[in-house]
Amino acid sequence: MNAVIESQTSAPYRRAVVASKRARWEIETDVLRGRSLEQEHKYLPDGLSLAHTLDFLSERERRFMSQVQGRSYANIFGLVERFINAKVLELSRHHLFGDQVALEALVRFSDEELKHQELFRRIEQLAARGMPEGYRFLPDPNDVAHVVLERSTWSVLALTCHIELFTLAHYKRSIEPDATLSPLFKDVLMFHWKEESQHAVLDELEWRREDKTLSPAERTQAVGDLLSLVSAVDGILQLQAAADASYFADNLERRLSDAESASVKVTFLRAYRYQYIGSGIEQTRFPEILFGLVGDVESARIQAALEPLL
Ligand SMILES: [Fe+2]
Ligand SMILES: [Fe+2]
Repeated sequence: MNAVIESQTSAPYRRAVVASKRARWEIETDVLRGRSLEQEHKYLPDGLSLAHTLDFLSERERRFMSQVQGRSYANIFGLVERFINAKVLELSRHHLFGDQVALEALVRFSDEELKHQELFRRIEQLAARGMPEGYRFLPDPNDVAHVVLERSTWSVLALTCHIELFTLAHYKRSIEPDATLSPLFKDVLMFHWKEESQHAVLDELEWRREDKTLSPAERTQAVGDLLSLVSAVDGILQLQAAADASYFADNLERRLSDAESASVKVTFLRAYRYQYIGSGIEQTRFPEILFGLVGDVESARIQAALEPLL
């Protein structure tokens, strides 16, 4: 008997494999090329950092704010890629003796996420070289992965699809058009975007495949898992936003007033919630996919839970 090498569902996986081969890049020779992170440029655009909303900060202080947030942006990607890769490896088992094209697509996905984690570790080292001491990235990628992976596959795939879709939106809508960003930081996010484009397609395919296996009761349970994951993400954002706001304020050449400090703190959290939660809801097709899968009652439940975070 012939094993299933390709099936009718292979076509989108095959397109992802072809696109992944075309996009393929190496950290040192394509992305870093011996460069350092430029101190004279912003790392994240205003639309993501919200630094432009603090009118009591000087140009230079706003730039520093975008660099602190850019450093955490790289670290947060490194962190989520730990659980994403673990889930992708687990999903690839479904295809081990079936669709070999789907298997290849997921193996490449996993390989790319391992490479991205290494890239973001390199960025953390380069950022550390140019910034004052005292920055700390608080959440531990393995601790977070253990918490996330306890939840249902459907909910982890939903969260992953959301992350990969907003990654694309950030790059296309606000990073690519901004000519004032650090050329190296911008290149890192451009190369990352190239490979994430395939990941977002694969997340959706796998998520829909998983969705077909659930009963209505299991799906309701899975929505609950997703809401728990979103609240865990928000916990991480609150922790890191507070740490980053203090690091930022402690390293200015002047002392901020109490009101200014409070405003900085609120803006860091608002920016992080927008980067990792709100932008995916507002700027991508994620809600369309999600609400299409869960129906009206669960959609209303999700919207109510998200409202305080948006
Ligand atoms: Fe990635
Ligand atoms: Fe990815």
